[in-house]
Amino acid sequence: MHSSFAYILNKRHIINFLRNRPYCLKTKHSIRISNMELKLLIVSDTHECYDTLNTIIDRSDPDIILHAGDFCNIPLEFIEDAKYIEEAKESIQRQVDIIARKGKPIYIIPGNHDPGAFFKHLEAKYGDLGIHTAKTLGAQSECIAPGLHIAALGGSLPAYIGERLHWKGYPYTTEQECDSAITNYLEPQLAGDGQYILLTHFGPSFSPTCRFYQTCGEIIEAGSSKLEDLLIDNASKILINIHGHTHWGVGVFSFGDDMKKVLNPGAVLYNNYAEVLLKCENSLWKVQEIQLKQI
Ligand SMILES: [Fe+2]
Repeated sequence: MHSSFAYILNKRHIINFLRNRPYCLKTKHSIRISNMELKLLIVSDTHECYDTLNTIIDRSDPDIILHAGDFCNIPLEFIEDAKYIEEAKESIQRQVDIIARKGKPIYIIPGNHDPGAFFKHLEAKYGDLGIHTAKTLGAQSECIAPGLHIAALGGSLPAYIGERLHWKGYPYTTEQECDSAITNYLEPQLAGDGQYILLTHFGPSFSPTCRFYQTCGEIIEAGSSKLEDLLIDNASKILINIHGHTHWGVGVFSFGDDMKKVLNPGAVLYNNYAEVLLKCENSLWKVQEIQLKQI
């Protein structure tokens, strides 16, 4: 399920790409790729911290910016309340406007504290917030460079301490609902050729980036075992899974024979973000460098 953008990009630049020649490319989305490198700025869980987001944007010089969700702070009981949704829409647009100062493509997904109307894959039920400048992901994959796509799914599933529910999930109230969303909305995005960046709000259960070790010794488990299976089954085409949600799970987890990556950049709320450098060699993209940063 690739966009028409992917077709235009490939048609115009496929020859240079196949020859692996360094080139510069400026698309209608203003992506400029130099020497087949792509620098990603990853932010997540801003929770309305506008000043911190401003500072991060000032300090980074990326080709593309990704936001892994939780722009807002809506309490779960008000998440479908019209007044909260309207305020959230203004907040998300304000944050997108801050990010848009870079003049680079922006890809965003909703977290569990963002309004339901932000969930594109539930569009028939919720509609669209109509956020301008950024591309809201979650219904289809998006081609961002020759042979490279973003597949995405927002929201969260319930988190547990042992068998005990600790955080409710939204919009997935059970792990089974989250599994169905992965099957129905995420897996089909991976059906095409090429390689994929997987942008999710929640992480895979095997990664310590989606666990929180409390001082009392209890461990909050917020990951998805279905997402873990998806990563393992599609390891050959997934470059990296970038996720947010667990503010304290900042870090990089490697898995598989070729050390594929799971990255949690941490929360802008706590001054954290990340930069990822991707490099294309012999027509294959690889993760060249991941920098976890703090302001
Ligand atoms: Fe979250």
